[in-house]
Amino acid sequence: MASKSMQVFCYDKYGGGAAALKKVEIPVPVPKKGEILAKVEAVSINPADWRIQNGIMRPFVPKFPCVPLSDVAGEVVSVGAGVDNFKTGDKIASHLVFTTGGGLAEYTVAPTSQTAKRPPEVSAVEAASLPMAAGTALKALEAVGAMFDGTGKPFNVLITAASGGVGQFTVQLAKLAGLHVTATCGARNIDLVKSLGADEVLDYRTPEGETLKSVTGKMYDAVIHCSTVGIAWSVFAKNLNKKGKVIDLTPRFSSFATSALQKITLSKKQLVPFFSKIGYKDLEFLVGLVKDGKLKPVIDSIHPFDKAPEAWAKSMEGHATGKIIIEVEK
Ligand SMILES: NC(=O)c1ccc[n+]([C@@H]2O[C@H](COP(=O)([O-])OP(=O)(O)OC[C@H]3O[C@@H](n4cnc5c(N)ncnc54)[C@H](OP(=O)(O)O)[C@@H]3O)[C@@H](O)[C@H]2O)c1
Repeated sequence: MASKSMQVFCYDKYGGGAAALKKVEIPVPVPKKGEILAKVEAVSINPADWRIQNGIMRPFVPKFPCVPLSDVAGEVVSVGAGVDNFKTGDKIASHLVFTTGGGLAEYTVAPTSQTAKRPPEVSAVEAASLPMAAGTALKALEAVGAMFDGTGKPFNVLITAASGGVGQFTVQLAKLAGLHVTATCGARNIDLVKSLGADEVLDYRTPEGETLKSVTGKMYDAVIHCSTVGIAWSVFAKNLNKKGKVIDLTPRFSSFATSALQKITLSKKQLVPFFSKIGYKDLEFLVGLVKDGKLKPVIDSIHPFDKAPEAWAKSMEGHATGKIIIEVEK
């Protein structure tokens, strides 16, 4: 029997940006052990997706042709062997293996270890916005000791690029953990970032923004560095408390070198190159916060499936306010 086919966007070589995304027809994948097959409703873009296209992990990732995107919301249509916690008709949010992708498609297979059910109160657009961005915000805050059960002590955190996909969630989650938040963003997003709960907001293009100085003279116990732009360690160090930590979400060679040197010299202030690992429990927690109205994803824009290249180009420009979403099926 001929297998059912579906439409996907894919690219077949490194580079080329949005223009390299081509719509093609391929067979619907079959879920293996521990996987579900979902009909995709919405999917979101992360900078990692187009960095992979640019060859940041070459020569091993991706495998061509590559169907990109890893953050999906959809509905289960079948389950693989050994899956008894999902059934046909369940609505889900899932973080696919980001090096493999597969989300920019009408159907995708997802590992249950990185999939959560979502209730009707959480829309497909909201669910698709969460996995990598909110998941990373959560893991980064946990790495500096933030607690979400009311048992944590308050401390001062600086969040750079608070208007971006990760930053907007980091601000909201930091406030839920009871932290004092200083945030950086561009002038046009200051009111938005304040509305997310930030206590102090610095325009990153002003002298205060460039030096990261808190207007009330606060020193930071932690920095969640969400900006894609590198900041010299000396700038962070001047604003950190004695044992302050900087979680670097976009580590460069210099970040690894600084971090290694700090370990050798037993430095109390630390730069931490950080890579998040997001599991189904993190997704369940985040979906629950959205359901309860405690976390409100900021959506930059929603693009129809056929206009996926337009969404891809927008993400590559680096000026999204919140998450860029592609709606595959309404
Ligand atoms: N390590 C990990 O596990 C992990 C996981 C997820 C993401 N990341 C990384 O984290 C970074 C952020 O991801 P994202 O999804 O949040 O990106 P994004 O949504 O594309 O970020 C765009 C935002 O950054 C702001 N921005 C740009 N330069 C800035 C600066 N110098 N200071 C303050 N704000 C600035 C922009 O504001 P304007 O438009 O006003 O310029 C825009 O709102 C990316 O490099 C991504 O790869 C890492």
